[in-house]
Amino acid sequence: MPESRCLQGIWSSPWIFIFAAAGSAIGLGNIWKFPYMLGGNGGGAFLLIYCLCLIVVGLPMLMAEVALGRTVRSNPVDTVNDLAERRVVSKYWVVVPYLAGLTGLLILSFYSVIAGWALAYSHRAVTGELEHLDKLQSEALFQGFLNNPVEMLLWHSVFMALVVLVVGQAVTRGLSNVVRVLLPTLIFMLLLLSIYALVVGSGSEAIRFMFRLDWSQVTFEVALSAIGHALFSLGVGLGAMFSYGAYMSKRMSIAKACTIVVSLDLVVSILAALIIFPLTFEFGIDVDSGPSLPFVTLPIIFDLLPAGQVIGLVFFVLLVLAALTSAISMLELFVSWMHERFYIGRLKASFMLGLAVWFVGIAVVLSFNHWDAKILFGLNLFELIDGTTSLILLPIAAIALSTLVAWVIPEPMLKNEMIAQNPRHFYWWYTTLKYVSIPAAVLITVAGWIGV
Ligand code: PFF
Repeated sequence: MPESRCLQGIWSSPWIFIFAAAGSAIGLGNIWKFPYMLGGNGGGAFLLIYCLCLIVVGLPMLMAEVALGRTVRSNPVDTVNDLAERRVVSKYWVVVPYLAGLTGLLILSFYSVIAGWALAYSHRAVTGELEHLDKLQSEALFQGFLNNPVEMLLWHSVFMALVVLVVGQAVTRGLSNVVRVLLPTLIFMLLLLSIYALVVGSGSEAIRFMFRLDWSQVTFEVALSAIGHALFSLGVGLGAMFSYGAYMSKRMSIAKACTIVVSLDLVVSILAALIIFPLTFEFGIDVDSGPSLPFVTLPIIFDLLPAGQVIGLVFFVLLVLAALTSAISMLELFVSWMHERFYIGRLKASFMLGLAVWFVGIAVVLSFNHWDAKILFGLNLFELIDGTTSLILLPIAAIALSTLVAWVIPEPMLKNEMIAQNPRHFYWWYTTLKYVSIPAAVLITVAGWIGV
């Protein structure tokens, strides 16, 4: 398809794609979710399987999404519709991008609530409420916050408003400039904090927990959590990377760009865990305490640091920005589709979708306090949306999108796209995707579901 189909323009420099894709990948999934997933899934075993999933499944699937996006220079829904109309693929494949877009919206409904926690903690850092907290006080502060739905709703609303406003503008404008500054600052800060945490906390215990492999913990259920989180963390399977690929310059090597994105994503997750676990062990916080883990632990380290309140404020603001650069890619798929297909203004499309997500978010807020009812399988609404998206919808969407690229779309279509840079990259990627990544993802997902 001609480049003119790309309505929003091409990234002005090859590096900007990396910044934008890394901006989408790096977010709450790395700093908030990864540590507590690691804590809840036995440490070293999860880390090992997670790394394997990133390399063997995540990276090739990420490349598949980006390659298809760059080949067609359009949004996922129109692309698959177009391919179906031209009888390149069967019309049933049209379900896949809708599923991907819907999964993104569902994720955003709780993602925005958690990003609201980071906003609330930025505010608390300004008002001094995070000062002089010991473990019990930090836990009490967080619990008090969870018990206050009005405050949670306020911050959820602020975050959703920000997402709607940013997505309302074309993504190529502004976003990469933000990420260009945000990413290095975030990594630098995480690095300093992790060194500090390793020194003042129980560093050796944390390292042992994170890197020691206990084979008894290696199960398909842990592997399913790892693969689900790898896809979540990279933002694969939701068409977001497809959209960014659509804006990518032909000069950039997809293999190189995606490898850099995956590496950055992993580095940030490990640094976050290296901050959380030394403190968790030092202060006797339960490693398996779930979503509250980072929010209880982080204020303690800020309090130990010189000028800790300022550092805490900067950290939480950076976390909000990282969440924002991820959240916008969850709305992007449907917004660009509504804009390109139905000529609805981006801001209007973004507002309509944002409103729907905001409503679901209200129920998520209540599931932390007044409406903690176990709806299904003993899970409340937050746990249900989180579990369904990470363990069921994301793997299905990612496997389906990759199958479309590897097995359904004719090989020459993608070959022409990728071969120009390095033919070896194409064959390596294509074979791995077809015969390793997709079968491995199917095996782990199905075995995890039936609890082998
Ligand atoms: N990768 C993001 C994170 O780790 O926080 C979450 C995410 C972004 C998921 C974009 C899905 C997506 F399309």
